[in-house]
Formats: sequence, structure tokens, C-alpha cells
Amino acid sequence: MSKPIRLQKFLADCGICSRRKAEEYIQNGQVKVDGQVITTMGVTVDPKTQEVRFKNRIVSKQAPPIYILLHKPTGYVTTLSDPQGRPMVTDLVAGISTRIFPVGRLDLDTSGALLLTNDGQLAQQIQHPSHEVTKTYEAFVSGRPAYEKLNQLRHGIMLEGRMTAPATLQVKGQEGKLTRIEITIHEGRKRQVRKMFQAVGHPVIELKRIAYGQLQLGNLNVGKYRLLGAEEIKKIFLKKIPLQKKK
Ligand code: URA
Repeated sequence: MSKPIRLQKFLADCGICSRRKAEEYIQNGQVKVDGQVITTMGVTVDPKTQEVRFKNRIVSKQAPPIYILLHKPTGYVTTLSDPQGRPMVTDLVAGISTRIFPVGRLDLDTSGALLLTNDGQLAQQIQHPSHEVTKTYEAFVSGRPAYEKLNQLRHGIMLEGRMTAPATLQVKGQEGKLTRIEITIHEGRKRQVRKMFQAVGHPVIELKRIAYGQLQLGNLNVGKYRLLGAEEIKKIFLKKIPLQKKK
């Protein structure tokens, strides 16, 4: 038997939240010990023999790492809570009992590949600018962008006082008044792809992330997810197409 510790300390040690926040969660009835909701302070737990759940998910210090690729539908938020009560991506992975979180974000109106994990270290590596993890999007943009406009985006444009890094763009076809373009970037600024196309006069009408590095969304149905193996995780760090360096 290990030494019992206070419930709020255990939640904090597992990276759920601060001790103070844990007290709030306990008072709000969001924490269970061995299936029983605990709302009073001062309860101690033995993590070796007792099961603690937060929002019905098992809380554990040594949860095995889990990596999930979800096909996010539009209309879902990528935050872990939403004051407006909108659907959350974590609602779609309800079958997973450990606490997982999305790696980075996708806009409410963007669909496509979204990684979820409980591995904070990997999540940080993927998002750290030094790794330049590429993300590829399929964008339907309004009108028919001229070659020079696409080239501006390839080389970088001034966006909110800062140049964007070089990007790869390929025109995939025309559909009515829209152009389908594949764009690969390695930055993660807020609404970056939308802002880039807006800046050259071709607003994005529809946006879908189709790959992280060489990890493709493939034919995963919208709203569905699958578990990823170690080999697939490596693909995230392989660039899809080498990005052109600025001359
Ligand atoms: N760029 C955007 O504009 N939106 C996203 O959701 C992702 C990248």
C-alpha cells in the first residue's frame, strides 16, 4: 500500500489542474473516488488501490501514452471546456477513459485531422517552432488566384506585422467559382491559412486539415477517430514536401 495523499494534491500531481482549481472541481461534484462523488475537502486517496475519476475519466499518474487521430467535424471546439456549451472534440472520443487533450487547435469552422493525446511532451514537440512540423490543408478559396498571388503566399507575406514563413501551395482544380488549393505551412498562428488567403483577396470558403507532416488523414470518416502507433507518430515529423526556402 502506498501513502494516502489528499485528493486535491493527487489531481494536481497528475497534471489535471492546480490544487485550488481541484478544490473547486471537488466542490462541484466532478470528482469520484471508487465510483462515489466526493464533495468535501480533506479526503485522502491511495492511488495504488483506489480509482479516481475526473469528469468520469480515470486520473492516473502513469497512464500509458495514447495517440489519437480524429477527423474533426466543423462546429466542434478544440478547447476542453466551452462556456457557450458548443460540442467539443473530446465528446467524439468518449470511449477513451484517460484524460486526453488536442495538440494545437483547429477553428470551429475548420474540419480535418486533429491529434489528441495524454502525452504532454510529444504535444509540446509537435507544436514547438524548432521542429517545423508541417501541416497541410485543403482550402476552397473564392475566385481564381493569379500565379503571382500564390507566389506571394509561397515566399511569405506580412501578416499582423510579421512575415509568414515560406509555404508550399498546389492548385488542385477549379470547382465552379472556387479554387481547390493544397497549402502546407509549419507555423501555427491563429486562423493563419484564412488570413493568408484573405490578404491576397481570395477568402477561404472551406478549410480542412489533411495531414500533419506525412501523417495523412486518409479516408477516416468525419467524426471518427483511430489510434496511432509509434511508426505513425514518426511520420508527423517528416515533412510532406520540403518547403521552399526564401531566396
Ligand atoms: N489555419 C486556419 O485559418 N484555421 C485553422 O483552423 C487552421 C489553420
